[in-house]
Amino acid sequence: MTSIIAHRGASHYAPENSIPAFELAHEMKADGIETDVQLTKDNIPVLFHDESLKRIFGINGWINQYTLLELKQLDMGKSFHEKFAGTSIVTLEEFLVWVKDKPLTLHLELKNNKMAHKNLEKITYNLIAQHQLLDKTYFSTFSDASVSCLAGFQEIAHIGWLTSRQRRDLLSYALSIGATAIHIKHTLLRQRLVKEAKKNGIPVRVYTVNSSRLLHRCFSYNVDSIFTNVPDQAFVIRKDIYRRFLV
Ligand code: G3P
Ligand code: MG
Repeated sequence: MTSIIAHRGASHYAPENSIPAFELAHEMKADGIETDVQLTKDNIPVLFHDESLKRIFGINGWINQYTLLELKQLDMGKSFHEKFAGTSIVTLEEFLVWVKDKPLTLHLELKNNKMAHKNLEKITYNLIAQHQLLDKTYFSTFSDASVSCLAGFQEIAHIGWLTSRQRRDLLSYALSIGATAIHIKHTLLRQRLVKEAKKNGIPVRVYTVNSSRLLHRCFSYNVDSIFTNVPDQAFVIRKDIYRRFLV
């Protein structure tokens, strides 16, 4: 069955990558949570999508120019909606403590393709290992070099190569750099690709799947996972499709 992964939490309903968005995803019965990992100036992994602070915090500068203490003073809720005012940035460690006893898989996207975060792979890996969460963690990144770096950690079982670019040798290229799965933009979704990947034991995960039409397509192709901002809507559609066609 296609698993439903809440993209940056249930980010249609609450500030992306925030505890309220994660809580909602859990309440909506998502199978997992996708979130983005970057490093602060003092090398603390935090959950944040953009490199720039402008969109979320309304200030100039980059995530790696601020310490955790400085970032924690900033409000990331009110740019989404007044009712979330006072929401602050979440560290990876806070997230791990929160998720530990919940039946959720973790999809950690290492955001090191545009900004170089030195040792992001190692720092993230160490924290996951320390919290004994390696078995339910799926790593992913757009950076080919980072995929290969992750492949060097024997204990990491799931490494997704993220891509939005069409190429004929997509599957073999992903394997050649050390990925175990492909995480493709929805525009690359083809039933033939999904079949070929399945034949070769390569999981296919699709981002970001929000419309009803795309949700239907992904579930009917039986892709391994979808990343969605609306896990509640995905849940209803999946239930319906599996009841009608696949069971
Ligand atoms: O991991 C899937 C998706 O999150 C990749 O794109 O830009 O939303 O982080 P983005
Ligand atoms: Mg992401």
